[in-house]
Amino acid sequence: MSPSSTPKFKNPRAKYNFQGRTCSIAGVGAYVPERILTNADLEKMVNTTDEWITSRTGIKERHIAAKDEFTSDLATKAALLAMKRAGVTPEQIDLIVVATITPDMPFPSTACLVQRKIGAFRAAAFDLEAACSGFIYGLEVAQQFIMSRTYDTVLVIGAEKLSSIVDWEDRNTCVLFGDGAGAAVLQNRPGAHGLLTAVMGADGRKSDLLFMAAGGSRCPATAESVSSRMHYLKMEGKETFKNAVQAMVTAASEALRRCELDISRIKCIIPHQANRRIIDAVGDRLGAKPEQLFANLHKFGNTSAASVAIALDEAVTTGRVQAGDLILRVVFGAGLTWGAAVIEW
Ligand code: ACO
Repeated sequence: MSPSSTPKFKNPRAKYNFQGRTCSIAGVGAYVPERILTNADLEKMVNTTDEWITSRTGIKERHIAAKDEFTSDLATKAALLAMKRAGVTPEQIDLIVVATITPDMPFPSTACLVQRKIGAFRAAAFDLEAACSGFIYGLEVAQQFIMSRTYDTVLVIGAEKLSSIVDWEDRNTCVLFGDGAGAAVLQNRPGAHGLLTAVMGADGRKSDLLFMAAGGSRCPATAESVSSRMHYLKMEGKETFKNAVQAMVTAASEALRRCELDISRIKCIIPHQANRRIIDAVGDRLGAKPEQLFANLHKFGNTSAASVAIALDEAVTTGRVQAGDLILRVVFGAGLTWGAAVIEW
């Protein structure tokens, strides 16, 4: 449907007078490493059980990158697939945004390493750090560049090698996370609404709920920081859980309100894949039916910035999402950060 014909919902972007310049996802891709770590494997590593992990989180297995496989490698594989599906060559890409909390190195950016690997030498490149919310933040950044006509083709990637910052002796966290990457190519598609709105939020007052203490300017690496296990992520699970549900419901409700949409109009809700109980609680509070919720965390665990990108790839490639469907994506992560986006596919 043309953005200028009678809409079946409100397009909040219209007030910016974008003169028909909308932003759509032209292609998606995902990649997860080969090695699978099951709950049974974890039973041999820490004091846990498949029953505990399954009932508290819904996770059954996760993928773990090889020693010589880095975030930029996962990102590159997902990106090349998204580019192929979008029919885009490396020379066409204007901007690469990589959302990650596990860059290959503090600098240069993983986006620059991806640029080199895919040969997109015309593109600007930078990393974006919003933890699990990074991919939605990235979509919003891409959309701003495309709507403003600054760029035509933007590659947004969510990629993580979380296994490199997980404390494999801490049962509270090591059962939750996995490695992987998801990517999307964004372009203007004439006649399509594409991304209708994106809500982004943050609350730095709660930054101590989920963090990695060492490795930055506050606590550079020392023998003591290593022996005190400060280079691993730490999380207050219960508080994070409560905040996640509240923030995701608020962000999703705001995104729906802006588009004057009732939840029943959404074909597929793609939430951050952290915990099955969080997904169900968010769906419940939004008044969604269980069949509207997309979940694949049983196979991948929480892959942070890659999570909703991997989930979108699966929803699209399995036919769960069809052209013209409305999708609601809703995320939450360290920072705290959160976000929601409504997309007409
Ligand atoms: N196996 C067995 N027992 C365990 C395990 C485990 N793997 N982990 C914790 N336990 C124990 C605890 O020690 C505790 O025991 P105690 O009562 O004797 O002290 C008991 O199980 C209950 O622990 P809780 O923390 O109360 O368990 P809860 O039901 O809250 O679930 C969980 C924990 C899964 C971590 C949950 O709180 C959660 O999912 N939190 C949110 C995580 C999240 O969403 N993160 C998103 C952002 S991630 C990012 O940005 C990178």
